[in-house]
Amino acid sequence: MEMTEKTTIDMELARRGRYKIEWAWQFMPVLQSLLARYQDEQPFKGHSIGACLHLEAKTACLLETLRKLGATVVAAGSNPLSTQDDVCEALRLEGMEVFSRHGMTTDEYFENLHAVLRHDLDIIVDDGADLVATIHTDYKEKLPKILGGSEETTTGVKRLKAMAKDGILAFPMISVNDAKSKYLFDNRYGTGQSVWDGIMRTTNMLVAGKIVVVAGYGWCGRGVALRAKALGARVIVTELDPHRAFEALMDGCEVKTMEQAAPIGDMFLTLTGNRKVIRGEHIARMKDGALLANAGHFDVEVWKPDLCELSEKVETIRDNVEAYRLRNGNSVFLLGEGRLVNLACGDGHPIEIMDLSFGMQLESALYISRHSLKPGVYDVPEDLDLAIMRTKLEASGISLETLLPEQEAYMKGWQE
Ligand code: ADE
Repeated sequence: MEMTEKTTIDMELARRGRYKIEWAWQFMPVLQSLLARYQDEQPFKGHSIGACLHLEAKTACLLETLRKLGATVVAAGSNPLSTQDDVCEALRLEGMEVFSRHGMTTDEYFENLHAVLRHDLDIIVDDGADLVATIHTDYKEKLPKILGGSEETTTGVKRLKAMAKDGILAFPMISVNDAKSKYLFDNRYGTGQSVWDGIMRTTNMLVAGKIVVVAGYGWCGRGVALRAKALGARVIVTELDPHRAFEALMDGCEVKTMEQAAPIGDMFLTLTGNRKVIRGEHIARMKDGALLANAGHFDVEVWKPDLCELSEKVETIRDNVEAYRLRNGNSVFLLGEGRLVNLACGDGHPIEIMDLSFGMQLESALYISRHSLKPGVYDVPEDLDLAIMRTKLEASGISLETLLPEQEAYMKGWQE
C-alpha cells in the first residue's frame, strides 16, 4: 500500500493551487466574517482537527480558516477523483499535512485515512463518514480522546445514524447536512448547478432537447431536475417515495420507473444515495449513446460490474468519459467513473454556496469544542443555522423586514 505522503513541494503546482484558493476566498464572505469574528480569540488553539473532505479550493479556504483560528489540521481527500493536486500542494507549502492524490487507488484512499488517523486528533470534520467509520473500526483506542465532529453530506449522516442505532458511535457528530442553511442551498442549488457544469464541460454536449432521467427526487435531485428544465431538457424522475414522486409531477416532470425510462432517456443521472440504481437490465435496454453519470456520494449507483459484464470493451475516449461498447452493438458513456460527477468532472458546488456549508462546518466544529455532548447525531443548533443565513444575506446586501409590535401581537393572539 502506498500513502500519498510527499516530501518535496512542486512550487509551480503550489502556485496554481494558491491562485485557485485566493479566487475562491473572495466569494466566501461567511467564512471571512467567521475568521474576523474569532481570530483574536483563537478558539481552536490546542485542538487537532482531522478532516476528510473533497480537497479543492473552497475546502482549502475552510481548512486554512480552521488553522488561522488556532487548530492543527491534518487532511485526507474524500474521493479519489475530487482531489485537486495543485490545491493540496498549496496547502502543503503552508505546512499542512495533506494525504491525497487525484486518481489515487482504493488502497491508497484508505491508507490516507489511516495516515490522518495516526495523528492525535480531537475533532473530526467528515464528508461521507469514512473517517468516522475507520476510527471506530481500526483505532478504537483513540475514541476516548475525540470530542466529536461534524458531517457534511446526506450519505455520511445516514451512516452515522446507522452507527448510533447499532450503539457504536462513540462521540457526538453534528449533521451539517440537515441544517436549512445547508440542504436548501448546497444540496439543491449547489448540486443543481455543479452537476450540469461537470457534465457540460466534460462532454461539450447540448442539454436542450434531451430527455434527462433523474433518479431520486431528494433535495439534490430536485435541483438537478430544476436546472435541467431551465437548460431546455425534458425531465423524467424515478422515485420510491410517493410524496416525492407526486412533487416531481407537480414540478412538471414525468415520473416513471427506471425500467420504463431506460429505453427513452438520453442522459441518466443518479442522486439516490442507494446502490444498483442503474443495473444491467436497464443498461441493456438503453439507446445507443446514452450518457450515465452519478451525483450520489459513492460510485455504486450506476452498477459498474453490470456495465462491464454487458460490454465487450471499455475505451476512455475523452478525459472523464469511458465508452462501454456493449455486446448488443450499442455504446453507453460513463462520466467520471461513476463517481460524483460534479467533483470528478468539475470543481464541485459554486463557491458562494460552499461558503454557507463550510461556515456551518466551522461553527459546528467550534460548538463541539465548546460543549460536552453525549455520543449521537445532533442537528446544528437553530440559532447557529440562522446566524449563518443572516451573515450570508448581509454580505449579499439583502435586508429583511422586521415585525411591528402590533404585528407581533396579532400573530401571537387569537381574538382578532
Ligand atoms: N466542494 C467541497 N466539498 C463539496 C461537496 N461536498 N459537494 C460539492 N462540492 C464540494
